[in-house]
Amino acid sequence: MKPTALITGASGGIGYEFARLFAKSGYNLIVVARSEDKLMQLKEELGEHPVTIIPHDLSEPGAAEVLYSKVKELGLTVEVLVNNAGFGLNGQFDELPLLDQQKMLQVNVNTLTELTHLFLQDIKKAPLPDIPKGVINVASTAAFQPGPKMAVYYASKAYVLSFSEALVEELRGTGITVSTLCPGATDTNFFKTAKAEHTKLVKSTMSPVDVAKAGFLGFVKGKRVIVPGAANQSMAYASKFVPRSTAAKLAHYMDQ
Ligand SMILES: NC(=O)c1ccc[n+]([C@@H]2O[C@H](COP(=O)([O-])OP(=O)(O)OC[C@H]3O[C@@H](n4cnc5c(N)ncnc54)[C@H](OP(=O)(O)O)[C@@H]3O)[C@@H](O)[C@H]2O)c1
Repeated sequence: MKPTALITGASGGIGYEFARLFAKSGYNLIVVARSEDKLMQLKEELGEHPVTIIPHDLSEPGAAEVLYSKVKELGLTVEVLVNNAGFGLNGQFDELPLLDQQKMLQVNVNTLTELTHLFLQDIKKAPLPDIPKGVINVASTAAFQPGPKMAVYYASKAYVLSFSEALVEELRGTGITVSTLCPGATDTNFFKTAKAEHTKLVKSTMSPVDVAKAGFLGFVKGKRVIVPGAANQSMAYASKFVPRSTAAKLAHYMDQ
């Protein structure tokens, strides 16, 4: 029996590359996003490989339960959950529409939490002792400091990191890996969606292929937190020593 990886946000960017890597490593795929056409493109690219497409909007309250039910109706079980779907919004907190920021929290925080809760029950029972199983939660280097002009986004990623690190401890000894991937700026649609293409962050990006590869390999090795790229690793390390008020000023500077 082959293991299955469910990847959210697989229609582009880092999630698309995660899907290709898990397929190459022999995992069957369940891929989720709103853009059915792009998910179809991924399935076509993977040829005969088993890929189940579930087009779904993860910003709707209750989206996680609906997705979980669909997976059960299809008679599928999941050994690896990759909570990758997410987006940012650039602008002053009190000027950005509240509804848009609530949707961001729904995708980045609530749905991620609910999917983890639902699928962990199955992952715990997975009868495949020798394959890496567990959860990869995609946070960001944004998780390490406050982020003026993307205040809710940075806070949402701090949640993802804290939540996932707590799960590592709770699940110690169970054979379940929980890895948090913390990419820095990556060359995807992220900045366009976030209306952040003017920021200094876009000047130095990693490729989504390299980021997903670091995430995949880190997960297979059972790593707790994965920060891809030497520059991002230095930044993450420095954030342990820099006062948070200074870090916030730096993040604000990078936003311009
Ligand atoms: N790029 C960066 O610089 C960077 C840095 C650090 C962390 N990250 C994180 O990496 C993850 C992937 O982002 P990316 O860089 O690959 O950006 P991306 O190319 O914009 O991909 C985002 C993915 O999330 C999906 N998504 C967004 N809203 C959704 C919704 N409401 N329902 C279902 N799916 C939704 C998108 O699919 P549809 O639009 O088809 O629904 C897409 O597949 C995100 O969590 C992001 O926060 C990115």
